[in-house]
Parts: sequence; structure tokens; C-alpha cells
Amino acid sequence: MIRHFLRDDDLTPAEQSAVLDIAARMKTDRFAYQPLAGPRSVAVLFDKQSLRTRISFDVGIAELGGHPLVVDTQVTHFGRGETLGDAGRVLSRYVAAIVLRTHGDDRIAEVAAHAGVPVVNALTDDYHPCQLLADLLTVRERFGDTRGRTLAYVGDAANNMAHSYLLAGATAGMHVRIAGPAGFQPDPEIVARAEKIATGTGASVRVLVDPVEAVRGADVVATDTWTSMGQEDDGLDRITPFLPYQVNDALLAHAGPEAIVLHCLPAHRGEEITDEVLDGPRSAVFDQAENRLHAQKALLTFLLEASTP
Ligand code: CP
Ligand code: NVA
Repeated sequence: MIRHFLRDDDLTPAEQSAVLDIAARMKTDRFAYQPLAGPRSVAVLFDKQSLRTRISFDVGIAELGGHPLVVDTQVTHFGRGETLGDAGRVLSRYVAAIVLRTHGDDRIAEVAAHAGVPVVNALTDDYHPCQLLADLLTVRERFGDTRGRTLAYVGDAANNMAHSYLLAGATAGMHVRIAGPAGFQPDPEIVARAEKIATGTGASVRVLVDPVEAVRGADVVATDTWTSMGQEDDGLDRITPFLPYQVNDALLAHAGPEAIVLHCLPAHRGEEITDEVLDGPRSAVFDQAENRLHAQKALLTFLLEASTP
């Protein structure tokens, strides 16, 4: 059986916790783990732009003793008729795992359906599950545990980060509040999945419109860009409806006394988050960015161990 990580809920609560445990160990003893020694190769493919994901996978695979192959797919045959299924079959003959950042989830599902090695979602239109592992590792570092903590995400509640906070937060036993304006609310099917997970983990899920209600007393306040990759020309006003959702000192005043702030980056400073908050004492954003490295090394280690070709 091959284990893929296409969505946050592809890991059970126990598996998610185990991956975070491995990540913490890998962070403490960064060069001690070499499951890809040989070296075995990992293909890391990008249909969209990236800084953090690209570099953290490249560095992380090398640190695991492996050989990273980072490819922008414009130079492949992806855009001129080669099917993603054929690409998945071919790459599986060369590499130990495939990491893909792409547009629709149908695209990564097609690769996974034909791959003989683990496939990892490095961001799609609907999910960003590797980012959430880093976020949860950061929450653990700051609070000792994710369980019982309240996480408020405010802004574009219809995007990949909102959906991943719902699923990964519920899996981690958190009280997840997602707030966005009308027209920018999460996919109801994903909300229903998160609610189902929450019944088994002691978590809870609330979808709101009011950002103050979402943030009130929260331990973690998170946001993301109001214009995700690919939405630049969608014709929607992606500023005005979101202005009340800006993470600034006034909104943060409603959060809990020890609240931390997360943002997956890149940030549009002055839009969804102010300089004062991003650079301020509550910001855990740069630890969060670093944790992409440790979390993804742990994830690859877990998936390779759990898969039998
Ligand atoms: N947070 C994140 O995924 O950043 P990149 O788009 O730079 O990879
Ligand atoms: N929601 C953002 C996340 C970037 C890491 C996007 O998809 O562009």
C-alpha cells in the first residue's frame, strides 16, 4: 500500500501527532536522520510559484541523505498533452516520492492514482497540508500541545489555507474558528468533514462572519493573503470586503493574553496583516516558516516508512 498526503485528513489524529513528534526530534538533531541515504531521489514539481516550499523541500531532502529534483513544470510536457497519470507512472520508476504544487485537486489526484510512490500535496487550490504541519508544530512549541487550544483564521475563508486549518486543526483537537466575508466562506463539504473529525478528537469547528467573534480569547490568530495564486484576474474585489479582517493591533486586542500570530507567507504587508503585528512580539511567523523544513522531513520519513511498493 502506498500512503499519499493529498489532504490534511489523509493522516489520522495519531499519525499527525506521530509526524509532529518526528519533526520535533528532527529539529533538535537536524542532521541525524538519513532515510533517503543512497541517495534516493524525490521529485518536487511546481505548476505555481514558491519560495518556502521549494527551498524547504530541496534542503530537507538533501538533509535526509536524498537527492532533490526540483522542477518547474513549464519545462516539462505537462502543458502540451502528456497526461498527469503517465507522468506519475514514469516518475515512480525514478524516484522515492513525488511532491507536487498545482492548481485543481483533480490534478494531484490523477498523479497519485497512477503513482507507485507516495505523492505529497505541496499546495493546491483547495489545500495546503504541508503548511499546516508546520503551523501545528509551531503551536506545539509555543503551548506544549495543540489539543484544547483555540485557533482563529480570519480573511479569505474560501481558500486553501482556510480549508487546511479546518481539517488539520480538527485532527489536532483544536477549536477552529474560521471567519470571512459573505462570498468567501469555506466549502461546506470540507466543513462537514472537519466537523466529523472533531467529534472524535474533542475539537470543534465554527464558521463565522464576524472577525472579532472569531478572534475573541483565541490562542492562535492566523491569516493569509486575500488573493491566492491564480486569483489575480478573477474579477472579484479582493480588498474592500476583507478590510475588517486585517490582523492589526486592534483586532489582536480581542485575542487571548498569550496569543500568537501565524501567517504562511508571503504576506501582503498592509493588507491582511500590518507590519506592527508581523514584526511584533506575538508573531511566530518566522518560526512557522522554519518549521516547514522539519515538518516536511518528518512527513517524507513517515510516508516512506508506511508505504510498501
Ligand atoms: N507558505 C508557502 O507555501 O510559501 P511559498 O509559496 O513561498 O512556498
Ligand atoms: N493561499 C495562498 C497560499 C500561499 C502559500 C495561495 O494559494 O497563493
